[in-house]
Amino acid sequence: MTDSGIIDHRLTEPDAAPSDPPAFPIPDNVFAEKVVLVEHFTDRLFRFRITRPASFRFRSGEFVLIGLPNAERPVFRAYSVASPAWDEEIEFYSIKVPDGPLTEHLQKIKPGDRVLMRKKPTGTLVHDALVPGKRLYLLSTGTGVAPFASLIRDPETYEKFEEVILVQTCREVGELTYITRLVTDLVNDLLVGEMVEGRLKLFTTTTREPFERMGRITDLMIGGTFFEQTGLPHISPAEDRAMICGSMAMLKDTKAMLEGFGLIEGANNAPATFVIERAFVG
Ligand code: A2P
Repeated sequence: MTDSGIIDHRLTEPDAAPSDPPAFPIPDNVFAEKVVLVEHFTDRLFRFRITRPASFRFRSGEFVLIGLPNAERPVFRAYSVASPAWDEEIEFYSIKVPDGPLTEHLQKIKPGDRVLMRKKPTGTLVHDALVPGKRLYLLSTGTGVAPFASLIRDPETYEKFEEVILVQTCREVGELTYITRLVTDLVNDLLVGEMVEGRLKLFTTTTREPFERMGRITDLMIGGTFFEQTGLPHISPAEDRAMICGSMAMLKDTKAMLEGFGLIEGANNAPATFVIERAFVG
């Protein structure tokens, strides 16, 4: 990193204010926010929280472009906001790509460092893009669970749907920790704790390490195992709505599966029965 001196300095002063002079000019369309928490889950996954600019508004499920103040023209990548719209901080859940232009540096951030965030959020995984229904399925693989970490903490989700079924498939058990802990802790949440009780179901599976539930969600739903294990009725356009976020291959196969169940893809300007986030590979 060209500004490693500055990063080292901040490491010794974790509470350094974000008003420290940045090494490179911050463009008008970008916020420079202070990291307040970093937590590593596995050697490939971590979450971090940054301060929230007073003027920053977003809808739960949307994403923003984030980068680091380490170059004249920094690399930006799409990150779903994992915290709900009412939270006073902003949370992100990230993969660590060994030679990834952004994540090779981002994985080293510490409290007190700055993260750049473009001012305009966007995305398709929002309530406005779905027509009303009884159940909401949130289908993810890997870090694709991030926008759903936001949506399951939004009261609007429980105002609109009787039941919310959050699904995450990962290769290994350790990758399920972030969402499992979040959902477990949610019953104690002052704002949505009572709403989620008995209405939010988490269905996690692994594919490459032994676990109590194994297999890709597509295989488990098409084969019927998912519905047998959960007691939920087969997905139908009459009652069910869905959002999908994961790798390109997962998006393609899950979309085909939902279309096979009779659901139709929607968008912000044309709400329908399911939506996909194509902005990044999670
Ligand atoms: P698998 O181990 O069978 O490939 P990745 O890290 O490659 O993005 O995968 C994350 C998880 O998503 C893995 O459990 C992987 O299963 C699963 N997965 C990969 N491709 C698909 C797909 N096309 N449909 C559903 N799940 C998938």
